[in-house]
Amino acid sequence: MSDIMEMLVRRGFLWQSFEIYGGMAGFIDYAPLGNNLRRKIENIWRKYFVINERAVEIDTPTIGIEEVFIASGHATSFTDVAIECENCGRVYRADHYVKEKLGIEVDETVEAVKEVMDVYDLKCECGGKFKEPAPMNLMFSTKIGPGKGKKGYLRPETAQGMFVDFKRLAGYFREKLPFGVAQIGRAYRNEISPRQGVIRLREFNQAELEFFVHPAEKTHPDFSQVASDKVKLVDKFDNEHEMTLSEAVEKGIIANQILGYFIGKTRRFLLEIGINEDKLRFRQHKDDERAHYATDCWDAEVETSYGWIEVVGIADRTDYDLKKHSEYSGEDLTIFVPYTQPVKVKRRRLVPKMNKIGPTFKEKAKKIAEAFSTFNVNSDADEIEIVVDGERIKISKEFFDIEEVEEEIAGEKIVPHVIEPSFGLDRISYAVLEHAYDKDVVDGEERRVLRLKRKVSPVEVAVLPLLSREPFESKAQEIVSLLRSKGIYTEYDDSGSIGRRYRRFDEIGTPFCITVDHQTFDDDTVTIRDRDTTRQVRVKIESLPTILKELLESERDITEFGEVFR
Ligand code: ATP
Ligand code: GLY
Repeated sequence: MSDIMEMLVRRGFLWQSFEIYGGMAGFIDYAPLGNNLRRKIENIWRKYFVINERAVEIDTPTIGIEEVFIASGHATSFTDVAIECENCGRVYRADHYVKEKLGIEVDETVEAVKEVMDVYDLKCECGGKFKEPAPMNLMFSTKIGPGKGKKGYLRPETAQGMFVDFKRLAGYFREKLPFGVAQIGRAYRNEISPRQGVIRLREFNQAELEFFVHPAEKTHPDFSQVASDKVKLVDKFDNEHEMTLSEAVEKGIIANQILGYFIGKTRRFLLEIGINEDKLRFRQHKDDERAHYATDCWDAEVETSYGWIEVVGIADRTDYDLKKHSEYSGEDLTIFVPYTQPVKVKRRRLVPKMNKIGPTFKEKAKKIAEAFSTFNVNSDADEIEIVVDGERIKISKEFFDIEEVEEEIAGEKIVPHVIEPSFGLDRISYAVLEHAYDKDVVDGEERRVLRLKRKVSPVEVAVLPLLSREPFESKAQEIVSLLRSKGIYTEYDDSGSIGRRYRRFDEIGTPFCITVDHQTFDDDTVTIRDRDTTRQVRVKIESLPTILKELLESERDITEFGEVFR
């Protein structure tokens, strides 16, 4: 176990799930400190991607019915290529195994994997031969209800819940684009061989924003806020750039302004929670790497002891999902966009021959006639194809006439495009912890310190009686109650020497320690010690809550609040 993982487990950030039964790869428990850190990161995310966007947050089930994932394409396309050993039966994710053993990046297709296996005579770790590579679907399937029940899947992304609710959401926003919908919650993927500890989980936490825009307007009203931010980019041809976002959009390196906007906002969010800027870059997916629904995608990648890992994917999903759900559900998932002036257009329209349609199509006749009213006829077609309740129906010429009419049109129905920043909160939380982990020397002794940003520190303040006896202990407990009543995450500790206690809180990233000492009983003051500088100032107890609140919400120095005495 790495140094940092050992600390995270020992001090109560992350634990192996099902530990007493031997554990299971791909699952982790958030222990008290890790849980608080992740929740704080979630709340900062909300500020960026919900409160300061034209966006709302919803919460939909983590189990989805089969129809949803057939429509979205996950039932058929959400696969990785797996290789299974004939000898020991172990199964590996092919591209990861090839990278690990041969140092080669291989496309995620059965053909590409097979070619590499043949050329390099790839063997299992046990020396055994592999069976033919095969795609494996990553969704966990389940059965809803008793008996035969109904097939369902644990959602592999939170996104589908938002697409499925699109009709309601469009109404909520009074059909005015752009608008965003966010969701924070669990996602599940039956990863083939999750050997990267907390990086590749089978149950993980996503924070996703679906930002719906007019297809012809891939801009964002607040782009100017991030336009001059400099970012590190690696484009799909592996060219590296360091430039402002406005330059990247102007030069076409980033395809549109809205992708640029979310890259900028993602960067600011990651820096605010403590990701080290030198270890952050944005990498564009190569053409053969993108998910089945995306036309462009930029990953925020962060350098950790696992190498560069993807922590956020920012994808242009176009109208893929809404069109698919519309097609499979039969629901109209368009938005009506009015023109500034109504326009007159000539159009060829289908006139239904009800006397023929009725007897032939019976109960479907009405819906077929309705579908005719929006159908555009380009030529003297002998046959047309329409979709009714998700069913494609071919209709021959005997059921309609074609007539040319002039119509005044007030606007048009469009299927919005969606830009999606998708955040993996587990990878982000872990990267924040790794980037904060540091060692230095204090008073001639090595100390381990977690230099977390104050706003994500799970324990914000520790109150320590200098001596473990009365009246120091009661006074310290009084201060704990005072600070907790003001909503500050506060812990009390009276065991061991004061130096050891400071080290304990440095190791879990607590930014401030308050010490009750002899002078407290003379003048109602205590000391505040800063984790990073180890400097101390003395302040009045009554002003502690205000000072601490101010310090925790900013990165101000404690020396602004009192005389340094150590
Ligand atoms: P990878 O290539 O690493 O498998 P991905 O491209 O499948 O990731 P996305 O499908 O884009 O990832 O998912 C969006 C985000 O969800 C990712 O940026 C990542 O932070 C997170 N994520 C995806 N899969 C996992 C997982 N198995 N464990 C933890 N987080 C994950
Ligand atoms: N919603 C993007 C993903 O999870 O892949």
